[in-house]
Amino acid sequence: MRVLTVVGARPQFIKAAVLSAEFRRAGIEEILVHTGQHYDPSMSDVFFEELPLPAPAYRLDVGSGAHGEQTGEMMKRLEPVMKCECPDWVAVYGDTNSTLAGALVASKLRLPTVHVEAGLRSFNREMPEEINRIVADHVADLLCAPNAGAAERLRAEGIEPAKIAVTGDLMIDLVQIAAKSVNAPPALLQRHALSPGNYAVLTIHRAGNTEDPAVFERLIEGIRRVAMPVIFPVHPRTRALVKAAKAGFDDNIIAVDPLSYRETIALLMFSKVLLTDSGGMQKEAFALRIPCVTLRDETEWIETLEDGWNVLAGADPARIARAAIRPVPAKRGAPYGNGDCARRIVDALSTPAAVPGRRGELCAS
Ligand code: UD1
Repeated sequence: MRVLTVVGARPQFIKAAVLSAEFRRAGIEEILVHTGQHYDPSMSDVFFEELPLPAPAYRLDVGSGAHGEQTGEMMKRLEPVMKCECPDWVAVYGDTNSTLAGALVASKLRLPTVHVEAGLRSFNREMPEEINRIVADHVADLLCAPNAGAAERLRAEGIEPAKIAVTGDLMIDLVQIAAKSVNAPPALLQRHALSPGNYAVLTIHRAGNTEDPAVFERLIEGIRRVAMPVIFPVHPRTRALVKAAKAGFDDNIIAVDPLSYRETIALLMFSKVLLTDSGGMQKEAFALRIPCVTLRDETEWIETLEDGWNVLAGADPARIARAAIRPVPAKRGAPYGNGDCARRIVDALSTPAAVPGRRGELCAS
């Protein structure tokens, strides 16, 4: 079996790394295509150095741009690659513009397409990610859902049950492995005079939180009210806002450059609380038993809310400050699988019933 994997953004490198290792174990050939959506070394190269990912066979170097321009450029550059490789499967992950471009090109070439992390919904169509995930789900041939709830949503949207596999979540596989290799607080703590268990971690990058400076200012006001130091690895799209809001000057915020995957997991493991608008980090905190405050009004990862591990605070300063110091919940389930997601996805790809009748007939034309 040959699988062509499309990645482009930071969370996709993390998810693809786990499945890639499983592909190698199962003797599956992988062709990795990097769209270039994320291109700063700290947003891309560092993940290829640290995680079990093969070097990309193709780098499309698309870079940043408006949504239409970025997605269109990716599609233009992906099509000849998919036509030439004509793989048995195309794998796309999550909900970024790279996911959308990969899913559209593959399905139009009639290449069997698997969407990993299918069935997530925020029910907020103002989020570019919501549009991307809906389209990817509806053009894919195999939908790997992290849990029964996501599978149920797909069926409710009219997707044939035979196309859906409940596989768990790849990020849970990886965070479990990564946590085992962390045996001391990261050097970063000492550099910033932080002590284990006494600091918060902050990330902000969503369009909804970074497009309007007034929203960002409210978030920062809330963070300043959190009664502990807050370490803030800054995504490139947030840099100018951090400067304009003077975050980190005369306050409890410590702004640092983006971190590698291992540094992020180690930083989280020794923290008291996570404040974030990232989807992936909500799950990572949940897996590591770190309480999370989500800086949004909704989440796709609703199971994290159930026992109080995650709380929605939007951009409301009082809610943010209150939620950050709430007690640690007592119990926690395993709604995203037990760390065997990669194996389950390989099983789903290898099930003859999952393979659609068409096999990329348009590749040669
Ligand atoms: C994208 C995803 C988002 C995901 C996030 C993870 C979409 C629509 N959004 O958001 O779902 O959670 O990745 O990080 O696909 N930039 C750089 N260097 C980089 C990458 C980005 O400077 O390496 C800057 C550019 O100014 C760019 C902006 O960040 O315009 C936004 O980047 P983009 O990839 O479009 O979206 P993300 O915010 O990273």
